[in-house]
Amino acid sequence: MSTADRTDSRSQVTVNRSHHCSATDYRLERIHLEVTNVCNFKCEFCPDAIMARKRGHMALTLLEKALDDIAEHRLAKIVAFHLMGEPLIYPHIFEAIALALTRHLNLHLTTNGSTFHMRPEHIPKLVASGIPKVTISLQTPDPSTFIIRGAPPMLKPEHYFEGITQYVQANLAEANSSTRVHLKFLDTTPHPFLVPHKAMHVVEGKEQMQQQLREWCNRLLVNAPQRPSPDQLNAKLATHKPGRWQVIELTPKLALETFPLDSWGNVESNTVIPARFGYCNGTTDQAGILYDGTVVPCCKDYDGQIPLGNLNHNTLSDILDAQAPACRLREGFNKFQVTHPVCQRCMGADTQHKSLLRQIGSIAYFKAYNPIMKKLNPGWGEV
Ligand SMILES: C[S@@+](CC[C@H](N)C(=O)[O-])C[C@H]1O[C@@H](n2cnc3c(N)ncnc32)[C@H](O)[C@@H]1O
Ligand code: SF4
Ligand code: SF4
Repeated sequence: MSTADRTDSRSQVTVNRSHHCSATDYRLERIHLEVTNVCNFKCEFCPDAIMARKRGHMALTLLEKALDDIAEHRLAKIVAFHLMGEPLIYPHIFEAIALALTRHLNLHLTTNGSTFHMRPEHIPKLVASGIPKVTISLQTPDPSTFIIRGAPPMLKPEHYFEGITQYVQANLAEANSSTRVHLKFLDTTPHPFLVPHKAMHVVEGKEQMQQQLREWCNRLLVNAPQRPSPDQLNAKLATHKPGRWQVIELTPKLALETFPLDSWGNVESNTVIPARFGYCNGTTDQAGILYDGTVVPCCKDYDGQIPLGNLNHNTLSDILDAQAPACRLREGFNKFQVTHPVCQRCMGADTQHKSLLRQIGSIAYFKAYNPIMKKLNPGWGEV
């Protein structure tokens, strides 16, 4: 055991200090800082409707404390303003963005994009904000699939699509904005590694997705600076492969992103053979802070079922590196053991065979594939 390790007398858990960052390093790859868990949509693919937590917004004082902690100790390479909830309906969102940017944090905002129509003043404000990256969860790219979003009745699909188009075009046209925008499409092509938790058909297979991607390119790129030529666009769209996370760069400020349907840790699956071994980067490379200050290990813990501590009482470093719940979880993963029942479900599957494959696959993914991909492409896997 290194001198950086010690034993926590309260719990007899070995506390591993080896995650402290050096001057050039970050403690975590990303942190999900949930400014609100309130949302104006009820997407069928999201656990928003079954979330048991009370709804609320993060107090500005707590947000500032979190941002100070993250900035001062270089705790995260990327800060994302969501775990659950819709960040653009957080009442202090533009103040929150400014607070993060004055601390030089690499802030990402993932939004359903509904307020671009419902509160059009959000468009110039977000374009002028200086935020490095905005991901718009378009997900359902046409009126027939938009039905599953559970949007407010006054927001018709054509309004929703027009609001998003207006924001993307305003950002492309503004030379002073360097915000990179990703437009995200849900890919429901069946996936052998995921448990099919819901029968859902949004966009499936290469042909359907390429058609949607092309229609949205045509819509967004009208008069866009640095737009690709028709041949370049064809070549870019031809690279799309169904059933996987993929980013297709259109201009230096705009990319299309496809993302496979996920089961949120198999939360709604009837039968799950739990995982006993495997690896996950929760607490090592990622963590979440819920709006009430509860710290959780990952973006999948939407209901705060793995509470590691609370930012109102301790610092994030202390919660992640010196307190028993996080150390115990990480120590298990470091020995390829899955100790928490929520993680056992998350990494399990509906058959013995698939569960075994997922457990082995988790180790192969985090210990081999992910590091290799990151070396080849430093932006790989960014939220
Ligand atoms: C939980 S949402 C919170 C931020 C914001 N409300 C939004 O929708 O962008 C974060 C991201 O998860 C995506 N998402 C939700 N459920 C999903 C699922 N079952 N599979 C894949 N992505 C999902 C959303 O579309 C969004 O891009
Ligand atoms: S995916 Fe986002 S917009 Fe849809 S219900 Fe979940 S939190 Fe709301
Ligand atoms: S295994 Fe546990 S820590 Fe990892 S994503 Fe699933 S619930 Fe989160």
